[in-house]
Amino acid sequence: MSKAKDDKADAKAAEARLRALKKFDLDNPEFPPELDAVALASGGYPYDERLKRKVYEDELIKLQLELLKLQTHVAEAGERIVVLFEGRDTSGKGGCISRILARLNPRHARSVALSKPTESERGQWYFQRYIAHLPTRGDILLFDRSWYNRAGVEPVMGFCTPEQTANFLRDAPAFEELLVRDGIRFFKIYLTVGREMQLKRFHERRHEPFKQWKITEVDRAAIGKYDAYTHAEREMLRFTHTAVSPWTVIAANDQRRARLEAMRVILTALDYPGKDKDVVGALDPKITKSGADHLA
Ligand code: ADP
Ligand code: MLT
Repeated sequence: MSKAKDDKADAKAAEARLRALKKFDLDNPEFPPELDAVALASGGYPYDERLKRKVYEDELIKLQLELLKLQTHVAEAGERIVVLFEGRDTSGKGGCISRILARLNPRHARSVALSKPTESERGQWYFQRYIAHLPTRGDILLFDRSWYNRAGVEPVMGFCTPEQTANFLRDAPAFEELLVRDGIRFFKIYLTVGREMQLKRFHERRHEPFKQWKITEVDRAAIGKYDAYTHAEREMLRFTHTAVSPWTVIAANDQRRARLEAMRVILTALDYPGKDKDVVGALDPKITKSGADHLA
């Protein structure tokens, strides 16, 4: 095909895509096949198949054993680990966290998902309510969303002022530097999900009885705000990806790969007795990038 014809075909496909996105109706029990067909590839996802279940389950159990070795070391050495998960609605934060915690000693590994701030919390220093949850010696703490609400959901949904977000973007690196300097091993993981894949997951939440609790008013509102979230995400990375507390961005259209990868982000960065380097392996550059590379 000639270049002009190519361009025309591309433009037509883009128009068709926008039309399909526009007429998407969450309440219709049928998920549009034209969206379904491109869900896995959406947002430039590089794999055209999900990881096979068998491969996933084999790797999952091995990585969970490595995490347990790590936890034993953390307990003995009195280390503190904080892993913060961010990403737009349905990106799979909760799923990563539950797999990481699944086989750990729950007394020394837990997750925190704070609700919207109370009136009293609204009157405090913004970081204050998160500090109460930071780990003590020997503990692993996973944040399911975090102070980064102020860079994402809050500005996008109008829950804070632009000035509050600007102040936050300036202060977050300083706040995190204090944690790191105090010796906390600190990780920031950002999960990305393509637009069609996000719709597919919202749709599943709406129509699968066991998932209905997950869909909230904020989710419904997010459907029309994909681009606003993308803008917020870029601002967040631009201001808060630093040498001291860098972001790792994982493309998460395939939840199985994303869960294994999130475990590897932690395991590849830390040493512990009995580490099986073959199991831990290396990060997959096709789906995992530093915050800086994701922006580039
Ligand atoms: P989930 O964490 O399950 O995705 P939601 O999508 O409903 O929950 O909300 C996303 C985030 O926005 C949550 O962390 C929630 O606490 C926060 N949030 C919801 N409403 C407000 C509000 N009015 N002010 C500040 N934060 C809010
Ligand atoms: C996720 O799946 O990313 C979260 O756990 C829930 C959400 O924010 O929609």
